[in-house]
Amino acid sequence: MGEQPAGPGSGRDGHGLTATSTRAARVQAAVPFRKMFDFRMRSGYAERRLEPGVLDLTFGDPHEVQTAEYVEALREAAVPRDELWFAYKQSEVGAQEAAAASLERVVPLGWTAGDLRMTTGGFGAITVAMKVLADPGEEVVYTLPPWFLYEPLALEAGLVPVKVKAREPSFDLDLDAIASAITERTRIVIVNSPNNPTGRIYSPDTLRALARLLDDASARHGRRIWIVSDEPYNRIVFSGNEFHSPAEFYEQTAICYSYGKTLLAPGQRLGYLAVPPGIAGREELLEAVDMMQIAAGWLFPNAVMQHATPRLEQLSHDIAGLEAKRDRTVAGLRDAGYEVATPEGTFYLWVRSPAPDDESFVGDLADRGVLVMPGAIFETPGWFRICLTATADSLEAALPHLRAARAAATGIGPA
Ligand SMILES: Cc1ncc(COP(=O)(O)O)c(C=O)c1O
Repeated sequence: MGEQPAGPGSGRDGHGLTATSTRAARVQAAVPFRKMFDFRMRSGYAERRLEPGVLDLTFGDPHEVQTAEYVEALREAAVPRDELWFAYKQSEVGAQEAAAASLERVVPLGWTAGDLRMTTGGFGAITVAMKVLADPGEEVVYTLPPWFLYEPLALEAGLVPVKVKAREPSFDLDLDAIASAITERTRIVIVNSPNNPTGRIYSPDTLRALARLLDDASARHGRRIWIVSDEPYNRIVFSGNEFHSPAEFYEQTAICYSYGKTLLAPGQRLGYLAVPPGIAGREELLEAVDMMQIAAGWLFPNAVMQHATPRLEQLSHDIAGLEAKRDRTVAGLRDAGYEVATPEGTFYLWVRSPAPDDESFVGDLADRGVLVMPGAIFETPGWFRICLTATADSLEAALPHLRAARAAATGIGPA
């Protein structure tokens, strides 16, 4: 008899026979992923978000029609200039060059085109990094609250997620907890700065201390531990703050970038994986990446996206407008009595739920027509996330409902 898949993913065919793999079952059983999937796909969210009067502050999706410049960049890239325009594409050198030049402005380490591989967004980059740097059964450490898809990506790669809580209420990295979580099976530590959902940017001192810790642990266990630096928000940094990549402090860092955030067009898959220039074993590593991108299912962006990359590199979502929305919404929430950290980057607000049960509080908000994401999806109950990609008008209109929901939950003020 075949192995029985565990958990809710145990697919059966019409004869009651197991039809899906244990791998699929393992991925489906990841609780935060299941909650997020059900929220997005099963809860009626897709219809609800479009109902008149409903204010959707959940996912990092656009809420306004894309700019003419963005559309023109794609339109131009869709016109073939030679017979190979739509041939199979791995990493196109024009895209790599444009991406390396802009990475150099953010993380000045002397990047050139050959240090980067173009991927299907951040997802593709993280997937390839995990599969190239670690073997099934090895451990990947990351901090809670996390981006809710690290767990399914790690499980799909056969890795064991090891979760460490951030320090509350600063939501800074807890280096002691990370040190205690490392074992001889640890191969990757994921660092996500600016952080989704907390908006924290980790300081150079913190990253330097993390690098020392990982150097020591790698030497102790006789194996190199990698940092996977998931930094799709590294250009969404608010005034008065500075972003630093772990790659500036720790050589064995694989940077994963997505254009989906800066351009606010996550449906158009484009990103890259970058390994620092001059790193020992670079050629072998990049060849492994090239081959894994093919073996994992051709994880290269489509031809049009790669042809458009040099022009897309010139564009950005309105960061000043985002900062204005951040300031107004943080002020409005605080005025209503909420505890909310001021994010240093990203487009999220991380807010303490006035009721201990964040899922029921979020349900109450949904009944009032305001959709947000519960902390439970980020394995951090007692909090919720607001996404600032909603329009300024929607965010403003949500504030009275947030005030009323808090009053109802705490019994303080008018409900
Ligand atoms: C922290 C983080 N990493 C990676 C991703 C994946 O980005 P993309 O969908 O553009 O590949 C996201 C998207 O929400 C994210 O927030």
